This record gives sequence, C-alpha cells and structure tokens, in this order.
Amino acid sequence: MNLLELVKARYSCRNYQPTSVEQEKLDYIMECVRLAPSAVNKQPWLFHIVTKEEDKAKLTQCYRRDWLKTAPMYIVASILHDEEWVRFDGKHHGDIDIAIAVEHLCLAATEQGLATCWVCNFDANLCKELFALPENEEPAVIIPLGYAADELKPKSRKAIDEIVL
Ligand SMILES: Cc1cc2nc3c(=O)[nH]c(=O)nc-3n(C[C@H](O)[C@H](O)[C@H](O)COP(=O)(O)O)c2cc1C
Repeated sequence: MNLLELVKARYSCRNYQPTSVEQEKLDYIMECVRLAPSAVNKQPWLFHIVTKEEDKAKLTQCYRRDWLKTAPMYIVASILHDEEWVRFDGKHHGDIDIAIAVEHLCLAATEQGLATCWVCNFDANLCKELFALPENEEPAVIIPLGYAADELKPKSRKAIDEIVL
C-alpha cells in the first residue's frame, strides 16, 4: 500500500472482532509511534497498553458506548504537560504532538490489517482518577485496537478547492 492507499484504508472502526492483536504487530505499531516527530523533539507523551480485563472495564466506564467494549484492547495516549514545548507566546504544543503520534498509530495499525478509532469525547478526569494518573499527565485519546467486524465506510470530506487556497 502506498501512503494514499493507506490513508484511504484507515477509517473509524466501531465494531471489533474478539481476536487478540499479535504482539509483533503491536510492537511494529508502537515503533511507528516512537518515531513520530514532536515540537523541539520533546516527545511529551506516554502510551498505556490496556489489555487486562480489570483495566478495560475501568476504561470503558470513561466512554460509555457499547461498541467500544467490542475491542480486544486499547491504547491510551497521554500528554505529559511538564514535558511539552511551549512557544514564546504561551501556546502549548502537546496536543499537536500527541495527534501526530496517534495518527502514526492508526496508519500503522491499518497497514497491519488492524482497525482503530480516535476517541477523545471521553471523561478524562474519571480516567485520571480510575488509573491514578499523576497531575502532569492528561489522558488525551483512547484508541481501541483490533480486527474490524465492520467495513470501511465512504469518506465524506470537503473538496480540495475548499481547503487548498
Ligand atoms: C481528534 C478526534 C477525536 C475524535 N473523537 C471521537 C470520539 O470521541 N468518538 C468517536 O466515535 N469518534 C471520534 N473521532 C472519529 C471521527 O468522528 C472520524 O475520524 C471522522 O468522522 C471521519 O471518519 P473516518 O475516521 O472514518 O474517516 C474522533 C476523531 C478525531 C480526529
């Protein structure tokens, strides 16, 4: 798959098979995450691999959707606010950095025949509390990871002449 084919193949999967993800595939995906760029190369992030039943139950409380529970595992991407780069005018860059790393994750997973979905609309405070995360750590994205039980949907996007000036 070239990059355009990969980008077209990635979609938000909201129904997963129970099959576990192979360790080699997970290692490959996390290597793609590790190599993501970040502002001033700060790498202000942590990725929690959530596979234990007890932890999965905690995480799915933070985003109560039945479909989320179908995933065999999750990755929680956190921003470390004490490590992110802050520009001279005060703009924090952790959100940008985490977004790049998470999309590396999603594209790498797609390349490996796996499916993902960005989830940001979760209760981050509850997540922090349930996993006893430190003050400086903000859980920013939950990514369910597994084999799809649904199918690629057609992409609805703005036209190129609406976004390129
Ligand atoms: C930053 C971000 C946050 C998102 N949060 C959620 C979410 O909380 N729940 C959800 O079901 N989808 C979420 N999505 C998925 C988007 O709805 C989806 O990417 C968009 O509709 C385009 O569809 P596609 O990913 O299938 O191409 C999120 C996507 C992004 C990039």
